[in-house]
Amino acid sequence: MLGWEELIEECSNCRRCSLGNSRTNIVIGRGNRKAPMMLVGEGPGEQEDKQGLPFVGPAGKLLDLLFKALNIREEDYYIANIVKCRPPGNRVPLAEEAEQCLPFLRNQVALIRPKIIVCLGATAAKYIIDKNLSISQIRGQWIERKGYWIMPTFHPAALLRDDSKKVPMWEDFKKVKQKLEDLCQNRSS
Ligand code: URA
Repeated sequence: MLGWEELIEECSNCRRCSLGNSRTNIVIGRGNRKAPMMLVGEGPGEQEDKQGLPFVGPAGKLLDLLFKALNIREEDYYIANIVKCRPPGNRVPLAEEAEQCLPFLRNQVALIRPKIIVCLGATAAKYIIDKNLSISQIRGQWIERKGYWIMPTFHPAALLRDDSKKVPMWEDFKKVKQKLEDLCQNRSS
């Protein structure tokens, strides 16, 4: 396992897949490296590629609103993606791209050791939970695995396209907030 500095160095020089040739910036993650919760999206979009930070575009703005409404603070989370370079035209990352990039994400999880991992959307759920289940089938249900509480939910970009996902996602995040409170209370007691 690499420490943060080595990991950032490796990611910054990465050419394991062709996404490394077209990226403007690598998007490693942002937030509290000691957070109790990690959120994982799909891959950087246009704004993220420009700024080198995840979830700073329209999907990120929606997440910010959700966090504000639920009083989830910046110190509560670290956010990253399945792939660290923008897929051209925001297409879904190819399996080989995800497989090449996943060791970096696993390294981040090992360093942060969050209690909760939220999978934002189908791509995150596919690579973190199960390749064969659809996000609509599994969303909103806790999965306990290897000491992590994993919550699959919709990707915020899906909400921008489909209003009917708003209520279910809100319900999922209420469960996340509750779990965060329960686990953090236990930690301090
Ligand atoms: N969508 C993602 O999955 N990740 C980002 O960082 C931004 C949009």
